[in-house]
Amino acid sequence: MSTSPELTRKAVRRWNRQARLYDRLTAPMERMLGLARGRAWVFGRIGKGRVLEVGAGTGKNLPHYPEGATVVATDLSPGMLARAVEKAGGRPSRARFVVTDAEDLAFKDGAFDAVIATCVFCSVPDPLRGLKEVRRVLRDGGQVILLEHLRPRGFLGRLFDLLDPVASRLMGPHINRRTLDNLRAAGLVVVEEWNVFSHWVKVIVAR
Ligand SMILES: C[S@@+](CC[C@H](N)C(=O)[O-])C[C@H]1O[C@@H](n2cnc3c(N)ncnc32)[C@H](O)[C@@H]1O
Repeated sequence: MSTSPELTRKAVRRWNRQARLYDRLTAPMERMLGLARGRAWVFGRIGKGRVLEVGAGTGKNLPHYPEGATVVATDLSPGMLARAVEKAGGRPSRARFVVTDAEDLAFKDGAFDAVIATCVFCSVPDPLRGLKEVRRVLRDGGQVILLEHLRPRGFLGRLFDLLDPVASRLMGPHINRRTLDNLRAAGLVVVEEWNVFSHWVKVIVAR
């Protein structure tokens, strides 16, 4: 069960509503924040084995998986995941699609060699709980690779704190998540960070 079922239900409704337009709405952001470059970096790190993608959304990452990866693509929103299935339609897909909540993943302990998520922990209602679940389903020695925007340092961070209640109400994602701290609090060790845009959009590798 998620920490707040009401917030979770709200998130499902919001993402289901956005599913049709999501790719078009986020195209400018992909370019402005260098997300395409970040995705390429993430997938340069993925090898063979069992990979869980949390919050796979409309399946933007699916074309990037390497041969030999067995992918389980998950999301809280059936609407978002339906778009991913549709986009994969007709072509052979290495992915299995599962609707499940990051806060309560429907998998056994240690089931995956790697877990990836791109632009997800800004949206998960209780990100710490989600990252604890990620840790639970990761095998010993496995790796977590995230592409996330984080709360910036200094003045900008304080500004993002002020803007977050409005921004998250309008768009859904939070703009001031302390994902590095949350990874550590979830018991994971951050082994690499790579700045994709300024110091607040990063690829993070943790074990
Ligand atoms: C900003 S979108 C990112 C989608 C995709 N990863 C990408 O890079 O385009 C955030 C995604 O996280 C999903 N999400 C939000 N809360 C979630 C949760 N608790 N469990 C799983 N997925 C969640 C949303 O449904 C949405 O598809």
